Amino acid sequence: MNSENTPRFSDRFEFIPGENDLYSLLESFKRSEQDWIDLTVSNPTKVGLVYPREAILHSIEKPESMEYDPNPKGMLNARKSIVGYYKEKGYNISEEDLFLTSSSSEAYSYLIKLLCNPGEEVLIPSPGYPLFEFLSLLDGVEFNSYKLDQNDSWKIDFEDLGSKITNKTKILFLVSPNNPTGSLLTSEEFEKLKVISKTKKITLILDEVFSDYLHEENQNQFDFFHTDFPIFVVNGISKILALPQMKLSWIHVGGPTNWKKECKERLEIISDTYLSVGTPIQLALPELFQWRNMIQSQILRRIRRNLQILENFHSSHTGIGYTSPKGGWYAVLRSESFLNDKEFSFRLLEKEKVLVHPGSIFGFEEDSGSIVISLISETELFQSGLEKISTFL
Ligand SMILES: Cc1ncc(COP(=O)(O)O)c(C=O)c1O
Repeated sequence: MNSENTPRFSDRFEFIPGENDLYSLLESFKRSEQDWIDLTVSNPTKVGLVYPREAILHSIEKPESMEYDPNPKGMLNARKSIVGYYKEKGYNISEEDLFLTSSSSEAYSYLIKLLCNPGEEVLIPSPGYPLFEFLSLLDGVEFNSYKLDQNDSWKIDFEDLGSKITNKTKILFLVSPNNPTGSLLTSEEFEKLKVISKTKKITLILDEVFSDYLHEENQNQFDFFHTDFPIFVVNGISKILALPQMKLSWIHVGGPTNWKKECKERLEIISDTYLSVGTPIQLALPELFQWRNMIQSQILRRIRRNLQILENFHSSHTGIGYTSPKGGWYAVLRSESFLNDKEFSFRLLEKEKVLVHPGSIFGFEEDSGSIVISLISETELFQSGLEKISTFL
């Protein structure tokens, strides 16, 4: 709290002191050492995956880590290994178009600084990743949400999107597969976005952190890297290698040649100001990529088993709406019983000791009766969490 004799804090965000009810209840469980089932867990290091522990630790203790040779874009060999990752996926990109950052949040923050003046606007998907709002506030820009249409496989509602664009709109954020709806951007949507980007001079930023986690056969993804309009692609090892603690993400810069050249020069100035990525992880990256299949196959197997359990749960609960996600680590459940979502989540935690996300934190209307659960929870816990939700209902 500010008193008269102390400096004022910034008004970038609204500070509400204290904890919310759900958080306070969890804290009381922790204090009294009571167990609960966490159906929100999305930290891959806490869900019983088997990592090549010794190999990973060995990779990050190279003698060269004792020297500092900063490069604003990130070390060349690290960037080359990212080029190799995309090559395996069938995309040809250049290491010259990559910038390393310590997280995708930092990548967003750089891009907002690159593209927006204070007070200009960004558009974020709703429902969508909750951090976009806060990141925008911290960088002094306004945000507005555009709707994804629940009744049309969560496709972009272009009428709504059109109505949200103003002459201050600079960035349109996209997430594919989207968190939490699990929907994928279609080529028809991408064509329309291309027109919007060109006619309204809006830059697209695509978050593809879940792109290696697809749940249906033959899902064609398309090339976001070679475009004649500005698009940045953000990804990183917090999902690709399930190593969020290692702090390494990247930005790929794409767009028309002249624009792209100046863009990279400007972005280099921003990156050079922070130089935030540690040397040990950059040196380790080429080796770490070798473990991608081993780590991802465990997660994909986990998700597929949990999705099967969820299908069974869904078919025995006719009042619950559920659309199978096409990708990502989350599923959305809808029901009148989940109204009001925050109150439902609180009562579920209080009575059954099961934690779920109220949908409203992802931008669902509070009266939509939506909750969000993580698909990477350990399968036994996932199953018993759903059984407890059943009992509660
Ligand atoms: C859509 C999306 N992007 C990015 C991230 C986080 O990435 P990082 O750990 O690199 O900040 C998350 C985390 O859950 C996410 O859901």
